[in-house]
Amino acid sequence: MILGQEILRAAKILAEAENAAASCGAGISAESGIPTFRDPGGVWERADPAEMGTSEGLIATLKTNPQKLLPVFRDLLDTFEQAEPNPAHFALRHLEQMGILKTVVTQNIDNLQQEAGSTDVIEVHGNGFRMRCLKCGRSKCYPRKDMIRRIKEKIQAPDSVAFSDIVELMPKCEECGSVTRPDVVMFGEAVKDIPKSFEAARKCDVMLAIGTSGVVYPAAYLPFEAKEAGARVIVVNPNENAFHRVSDVYIPLKAAEAMDQIVKAVKEQ
Ligand code: APR
Ligand code: ZN
Repeated sequence: MILGQEILRAAKILAEAENAAASCGAGISAESGIPTFRDPGGVWERADPAEMGTSEGLIATLKTNPQKLLPVFRDLLDTFEQAEPNPAHFALRHLEQMGILKTVVTQNIDNLQQEAGSTDVIEVHGNGFRMRCLKCGRSKCYPRKDMIRRIKEKIQAPDSVAFSDIVELMPKCEECGSVTRPDVVMFGEAVKDIPKSFEAARKCDVMLAIGTSGVVYPAAYLPFEAKEAGARVIVVNPNENAFHRVSDVYIPLKAAEAMDQIVKAVKEQ
């Protein structure tokens, strides 16, 4: 496979598209400095998913052994605070502006695709900067950096924060004053907007699968769903092609470089 030809093939397919969709995983934000989950040095290498990926596990660990999670939590706060959308996020916004791409389905909670200017983003695992009231269910989005700064100010104590302090970190519901939590999907909780995301997969003429290991369902079904409905599938991932059974083009590059080159080539079509 000559990479330049694969970039060109992807560009030709996208240039003809009128209703492309993208299904993105943590890899699209890797070049914004946010660690992925399953790569070497990833989140699940530093924290046990059972202790940090489920509500029960998180609450139990923060109550009994906060020191175990706080270093990971503080590092993630720093990376989320410093992160900016990268060329891959902007490339998807450009494809939307060119009338080629309609919808981005993201498994990421970092809000970077919206901040890059995409207008139709389906967040199947929620958004870390949208707070949902545990009592009335209302939710409100907060500016990412302000929110992180506020949390960091409150967690002054380097390694010992009581669970009650953690609860106090979150802003109170502006409607009923009750406790809120980040509106993210933990393991074992209902994934969001699945009908909408499957409809986008079935309706699209091209599916871009970017930066996902394809191990978490139902999001991992989307490229298969798109293929079955007649779409062509383009995979961008420097290490693996989890969708090799349905991909028409595989670009083994990092998302920022690949998407930058693809959009440039689309403009030259
Ligand atoms: N550009 C593109 N892809 C990349 C890059 C990069 N710069 N760096 C890494 N990748 C790829 C990796 O090769 C891997 O296939 O991104 C993928 C990241 O896989 P995961 O870490 O498993 O992340 P993701 O697929 O998004 O996980 C899905 O699992 O833990 C849950 O809720 C969490 O949303 C997450 C879900
Ligand atoms: Zn409320």
